[in-house]
Amino acid sequence: MRGEHTPVKEMKVSGVGKLTLEKVSEVVEYVEDLALFNPEELAERAEIELDKAVALVRAARKLVKAKLGIRRAYKGSEYARILESRDALTSGVETIDELLGGGMFIWDIYEFAGEFGTGKTQLCHQLAVTVQLPPALGGLAGKAVYIDTEGTFSPQRVEAVAGRVEVAKPLENIYVVRPMNVDELEETVIEDLPSLLRDNARLIVVDSIIALYRAEFKGREMLAARQQRINYLLDWLKRYARHYNAVVAITNQVLSQPVPWGVAMKIPAGGNIIAHASTHRLVMRRAGDVWVVEVFDSPTIPRGAAARFVITEKGLEKA
Ligand code: GTP
Ligand code: MG
Repeated sequence: MRGEHTPVKEMKVSGVGKLTLEKVSEVVEYVEDLALFNPEELAERAEIELDKAVALVRAARKLVKAKLGIRRAYKGSEYARILESRDALTSGVETIDELLGGGMFIWDIYEFAGEFGTGKTQLCHQLAVTVQLPPALGGLAGKAVYIDTEGTFSPQRVEAVAGRVEVAKPLENIYVVRPMNVDELEETVIEDLPSLLRDNARLIVVDSIIALYRAEFKGREMLAARQQRINYLLDWLKRYARHYNAVVAITNQVLSQPVPWGVAMKIPAGGNIIAHASTHRLVMRRAGDVWVVEVFDSPTIPRGAAARFVITEKGLEKA
C-alpha cells in the first residue's frame, strides 16, 4: 500500500498513552504497517504491555481496512479475478516466464533451490534489474531490495544484465542489505523493509534464506528453534508482499535424499517450514552445457515441468 500514511504517534486509542505510542513508533512508524503486526510480537519488540499492543493493532487494522475498503470475505469468483489481475515480473528469460505462467506474480514467494553454481544468485541479480523495466516490457517499474546474506552481491553483474535488457543506472534502484546474523536479518525485514517498500520497492530478494540460520542454529537440538525463526521471517515477507504488492524471491540449498531405487534425489533444504511458506518451489540444476529450472511444488504449475536456460556474461538467457 502506497500513498498517504498516518503516523503511529498520532493514534488515539483509549488506555494507550503518549509514552507507549513513542515506544511503538520506534519499531513501526505508520499505522498502515502496524496493522500487519501480531500483538505478541509488537509487545515484545516495542517492550509494551500485551493488552495495549492488542488495542493498538486492532485499532490499526480497523483504520486500514476502512481506508482501503477491504472486506473480510470475498466470493470465490471475485477472489479469482483479483488473483488473475495481479502484476507479473519477467525473469528476463522467455522459457522461465512461460514455465511460471507469464512471469513472477506479486504476493507470491518464489523459492529457487539448487547446488552451488546453479544460477540462483545470477537469477536474483537479473530480477533486481528486470523489476525496473516498465510494465510494457515485463517489469514493475519499481526498485529492488536485495538482502545478501552470503556476500555475493555484485554491482558488475547488475550492470552487465542491465546492458542487455536496457535499464539505465540500475544500481540507483537497488537497495542492498548485508545482515551479519539472524537478529540483524529479522530487524531489517521487520523494521526497515516498510520504508523501502514505500519507496516503490516491488521485489524483495533474500539470497539465501538459510545460510545465516544454518551458521547460528547448529545441531539437531537447535532444529526446532531454527525452523521457528525461519518461519517467523517468511511470515513477515509474506505480509509485506501482500500489503505492498511485491514479488518475493528467496534462494535455498538442496539436500540429497536417498531413494530406495538408486540415485539420490536433490530436494530443497529447510523442511516443512520453507515448504509451506514458499508459494512456488523451483529446483535449479546444471545439465551439461545448459541449466534447468524444474518445478518441485506449486499450486499452479505441474510438478516436474521445466525450462532450460544458459548463463552468459550478460546473465540468464533462454537456451
Ligand atoms: P551458490 O551461491 O554457491 O550456491 O551458487 P549459485 O547457484 O548462487 O550460483 P551463481 O548464481 O553464482 O551461478 C554461478 C554460475 O554462473 C557459474 O557457475 C558460472 O557458470 C555462471 N556465471 C557467473 N558469472 C558469470 C559470467 O560473468 N560469465 C559467464 N559466462 N558465466 C557466469
Ligand atoms: Mg549464490
